[in-house]
Amino acid sequence: MKIINVAIDGPSGAGKSTLARLAAKKFGFIYIDTGAMYRASALKMLNLKIDIKNDIPSVIKAIADTKIEISHIDGNQHIYLDGADVTNLIRTPEVSMGASNIAVIKEVRLKLVDLQREIAKNHSCIMDGRDIGTYVLPDADIKIFLTASAEKRAKRRFDELLEKGENVTFDEVLCDMKKRDKNDEERAFAPLKPAGDSILADTSELNLAESERLIENIISERL
Ligand code: C5P
Repeated sequence: MKIINVAIDGPSGAGKSTLARLAAKKFGFIYIDTGAMYRASALKMLNLKIDIKNDIPSVIKAIADTKIEISHIDGNQHIYLDGADVTNLIRTPEVSMGASNIAVIKEVRLKLVDLQREIAKNHSCIMDGRDIGTYVLPDADIKIFLTASAEKRAKRRFDELLEKGENVTFDEVLCDMKKRDKNDEERAFAPLKPAGDSILADTSELNLAESERLIENIISERL
């Protein structure tokens, strides 16, 4: 059977992971959340008390000795850092900012991109991230650039964090999101930008069900 790769890129909080997971389930593909790999890498540095922004040589040394793996349990991706399941430890604001900072380091990206390409070579998947259509899988069968206004994205992320009991304000979430967008868009290596052959999907004015329909229609029309 032909392997199909769908790339979904876009800024933080655009709904990529939720929509990619739902679409993967519908089409029988696996869902690969590449952000979780950057998050797990950042968690390692936080555990080792390495200053990600200011001590890049130590980050590069530590990442060379790091094992990142994924598995799927009931359709949900689990991520392992050096053999330990860290799926539930990587969604805090501290890890989010660490992931955004570690993602500018080329050596980290190259290691994670190898893992991402290896998975996509062997499985039909929907892979979400920032550079999937432009760098990781430039020959992906379908490329979607999913976006929404910064305020709408921050509101969705804020509601999620509140639900988890995190103690944050909307302004903090919006400010963090803008910083992360800037890091992603301005980095030298594999920055966030729509691939020339991607389909733009803006969910600013759509609810979850409408966004889901939009993404599933884009995919089914091109399969
Ligand atoms: O998607 P998520 O917010 O979980 O990703 C965490 C961070 O990892 C992002 O802020 C982004 O900087 C980085 N990332 C990346 N390239 C990817 C996926 C995520 O640079 N393919």
